[in-house]
Amino acid sequence: MKDKVYLHPLPVRIWHWVNAICFFFLLLTGLQMRYGDVVTIIPFRTAVTIHNIFGFLLAANFLLWAIYYHVTGKVFSLYIPAKPGQIGIFLKSLIRQSIYYGYGLLIGERNPHEPKPENKFNPLQKISYHFVMLFMPIQILTGFMLWNPSYFSRWIDLLGGILTVDTIHVFLTIFYLAFIVVHLYFATLGPTFFSHIKAMFITGYEEEH
Ligand code: HEM
Repeated sequence: MKDKVYLHPLPVRIWHWVNAICFFFLLLTGLQMRYGDVVTIIPFRTAVTIHNIFGFLLAANFLLWAIYYHVTGKVFSLYIPAKPGQIGIFLKSLIRQSIYYGYGLLIGERNPHEPKPENKFNPLQKISYHFVMLFMPIQILTGFMLWNPSYFSRWIDLLGGILTVDTIHVFLTIFYLAFIVVHLYFATLGPTFFSHIKAMFITGYEEEH
């Protein structure tokens, strides 16, 4: 018998669509700007323009995400891995979840995490989404500084110069690239190949077996 649980409200789904589209264009154009001497898919100037447009769209979308999660009061319950008194319990469930992904899943065991709207992420998701969203403002602000260095010159000086700002931006890009590879793999690990993807992009309902 299949149960369904409503995990992803429409505003979160819309945020996620826009976010995924922005990341696609930002990574494509960012890599083009960096490796234009190796391969040219998009002319450099066009890549810069597209990168700037999607950078601003990503920033606005992030702001809406932050407002939505703070207004609904869910950001702390969903995105903060554990309260100080609950670290032991969190670590236990983190180990159990890791064993499930490393072994239990392969022999057909049941996922130890039962998602509920107020606790929809398993411990591994909590940690990874926590850092993905925590680093987002850093990526956006360093992007703004690289977009208009003279306007943000005082901030750039505070951080130690444009090279430092650029290094932070590129390091976080590498982090996001790695996250996306792992995220796409985990997105296919639902009851069927597309069930998590269908839930996040279309229905909002996760299926449970
Ligand atoms: C086409 C590419 C993508 C696919 C197919 C995809 C798939 C999914 C799926 C199935 C979920 C719901 C299951 C879960 O909570 O793990 C999800 C949630 C999430 N994804 Fe993605 N994703 C994509 C791109 C991205 C990107 C680029 C980011 C950020 C860098 C991202 C960040 C997140 C976050 C933070 C959540 C939790 C959202 C919430 O419920 O508050 N995703 N994604």
